[in-house]
Amino acid sequence: MKIAVIGADGQLGTDICQVLKQENHDISALTIDHIEVSNIQSVSTVLKEIKPQLVINTAAFHHVEKCEDDPQKAFAVNALGPRNISQVCNDLDAVLLQISTDYVFDGKKRAPYIETDKPMPLNVYANTKLSGEHFVEAIARKFYILRVSGIYGKSPCLGKGGLNFVELMIKLSKEREEVRVVDDEFLTPTPTLEVSRQIAKLISADAPYGIYHTTSEGSCSWYQFANEIFQITKPNIKFNKANPGEFAVKVNRPQYSVLENKALKDLGINILRHWKDGLHEYLASR
Ligand SMILES: NC(=O)c1ccc[n+]([C@@H]2O[C@H](COP(=O)([O-])OP(=O)(O)OC[C@H]3O[C@@H](n4cnc5c(N)ncnc54)[C@H](OP(=O)(O)O)[C@@H]3O)[C@@H](O)[C@H]2O)c1
Repeated sequence: MKIAVIGADGQLGTDICQVLKQENHDISALTIDHIEVSNIQSVSTVLKEIKPQLVINTAAFHHVEKCEDDPQKAFAVNALGPRNISQVCNDLDAVLLQISTDYVFDGKKRAPYIETDKPMPLNVYANTKLSGEHFVEAIARKFYILRVSGIYGKSPCLGKGGLNFVELMIKLSKEREEVRVVDDEFLTPTPTLEVSRQIAKLISADAPYGIYHTTSEGSCSWYQFANEIFQITKPNIKFNKANPGEFAVKVNRPQYSVLENKALKDLGINILRHWKDGLHEYLASR
């Protein structure tokens, strides 16, 4: 299949390109140097030249604090971007696969969210990502929206200054005598390689269009995630839970953003493993 990947040099985009190339898809890897998603002219010119059958949009302005400071840019990239791509996909009769986030929920459910649960975003980033979902649902004739959570991969996360959580913990454990991590925010860490494999499966299964939660199985707090990392890497440090309020929090975030891959499981095509399995594979290959 002819596939255009937007954000192709990002953390997730890099793995998507690699996995889909291995599946013999014809990939056009588009970076910010090729396409600006908030500009309809750029989106139209670039995609109409390529004429893809599928467009995968990983591009986002997703530094949560910076989004709060610049809501107009956040809306332009995270909401108008998917709107522009939806319009051009319709012109090309192409499918749009839009990457979204667990942060569309407020976390009050305290049980894994399924695709039909009502979103209730808490911050500018989450609001603009949800607006992007709404534009896609309202405009694109053929679309998948994949909500991912706590992603990390071999390629640096460009929007968040490079280091993913695993690499940050390993770096801190080499620099400090003690590492302290919050234990009151719950998520499902998910390797970008696993998301990419699931995307390949979704495409080959010709799955019905709609929203899909796409995260590893199980859940943990950031402290439990770090604990598992240190069980494997065995640094010589003191490792403790941070006290409530120890780290200043400038932006509201969901304290619980665990997703259930119900739609994938109902179709029998969920291939995401437990988050600990994904972490072991990531650490073994770095
Ligand atoms: N990271 C997480 O933990 C997380 C959690 C849930 C959901 N997500 C979602 O997952 C997706 C992928 O995240 P990621 O971690 O792979 O991010 P990333 O490493 O920052 O990659 C994002 C890519 O998009 C490009 N980009 C940014 N703004 C653009 C624009 N206006 N036009 C065209 N390209 C643009 C970036 O290019 P430059 O950096 O060169 O500008 C980069 O290549 C995003 O949609 C994000 O909202 C991420």
